[in-house]
Amino acid sequence: MTAAASAHTDPPEAELQFDVGSTDDSLERMTELFARHGDTYRVFVPARESYTYVIHHPDDVKRVLVANHRNYTKGVGLDRVRILLGKGIMTSEGELWKRQRYMMQPFFHRRVLTRFATTIGAVNDRFLARWQAAAAQGQPINITDEMSELTLEIVLRSIFGVDLDRLSEQLGGNPFEVVTKDQERNLQFAFKFRSLTKLVAELMARRRASGEEHFDFLAMLMSARDKESGAPMPDRQLIDEVMTLIVAGHETTASGLNWTWYLLAQHPEAEERLHAEIAAAAELPAPSLAQVEALPFTTQVVSETLRLYPPGWLLSRRTLEPDVLGGYRVPAGANVLLPLYLLHRHPHFWSEPERFWPERFAPEHEAQRPRFAYMPFAAGPRHCIGETLALYEMYVHLYKVVRHFRLRYVPERPLELEAQINLRTRHPLFMRLERR
Ligand code: HEM
Repeated sequence: MTAAASAHTDPPEAELQFDVGSTDDSLERMTELFARHGDTYRVFVPARESYTYVIHHPDDVKRVLVANHRNYTKGVGLDRVRILLGKGIMTSEGELWKRQRYMMQPFFHRRVLTRFATTIGAVNDRFLARWQAAAAQGQPINITDEMSELTLEIVLRSIFGVDLDRLSEQLGGNPFEVVTKDQERNLQFAFKFRSLTKLVAELMARRRASGEEHFDFLAMLMSARDKESGAPMPDRQLIDEVMTLIVAGHETTASGLNWTWYLLAQHPEAEERLHAEIAAAAELPAPSLAQVEALPFTTQVVSETLRLYPPGWLLSRRTLEPDVLGGYRVPAGANVLLPLYLLHRHPHFWSEPERFWPERFAPEHEAQRPRFAYMPFAAGPRHCIGETLALYEMYVHLYKVVRHFRLRYVPERPLELEAQINLRTRHPLFMRLERR
């Protein structure tokens, strides 16, 4: 907070007027504005004829997401997502959100997630087998696409179970592949994506008619009951939740793993340490959640990657009533942005914030920073429901691959960030596989 801050004054205003958070160059501009104005500033957005407020201090982030969360709804950034996901839990509000979250929370309990061990293990094994052939030929692989396909397959198998193979056979290919093959997130994509809802509806009808038992998210969604009325989810809602899990569960995890490989390739000493830890652990086909969580350096590598490159790099909220952030007033109905990318590199809370140093997440260093300086999965009631599943997937992937391969980055062109809804590499990364 600057000396001038007072609950009656407005925060410093950026000279530049632009649709902060929504333009292609928002991350660069916001990095400069943070350096110039500090923890709290506002930007006039001509298209909306209003100010957007941007905050970086962990205390304010905590206020918005936790302490005063009732005063906030999701913000402007979510409009684009709503076209894809309808009223699923990522985009809904109020009572509807609360009901759905309550019904879906148990699906993500550790005990349930560990039952996905075989699925996660087997999908990784299939990718490994494919990579053996590429390694033998010395062919670099497109790791960005591979990660996207890997995480899509895991999320689809967790949702549809054995029905995914049935659908693919019947339709001569995986109908959900459009999600990775089509990287544009425009209206045309939205149309193709929403047309998949018909398949989900048919699948539900088939399951109801057959009475077969399944263990997957679709089965859990179909048998969930509202705690007050005892009613099942309406079909439309259920389909929106399926579509939400596909999108929320796949792109973020893919981008997390893409960045992990990039950072490991840049830091051979960390890669060596990771290899030593994993090579010393027993090789199991389907490690449990607890077994991979017991690999401390593996978990630190993942945490540090999600610090430097949080896939959900920008959270967006809107005030209901006026609030005070950074000591400044924020009016009712204002958009508030929380750039996690900058929070995670905040120079007051992180030493050498630009450095990749997984050990900073070792227990002896954890106490050195405020809890709310790090939150790749957000915080408060609307934090990521899939956090444990995402981490499980990332740990297992490293556990499976690192003992067999070293990945060498083939820099085709300088690395560029693409900070849109997710933080991705603008161009795919290529890696050469070296067998160990
Ligand atoms: C590394 C991977 C992931 C990251 C970094 C991530 C990050 C996030 C973040 C930051 C939010 C909060 C968004 C906001 O408040 O505006 C969120 C929400 C959410 N995530 Fe994740 N996520 C990941 C993986 C997953 C997975 C695997 C699933 C499910 C299979 C998932 C499902 C969701 C859902 C449904 C929400 C909305 C929750 C609600 O509003 O109640 N995510 N995620």
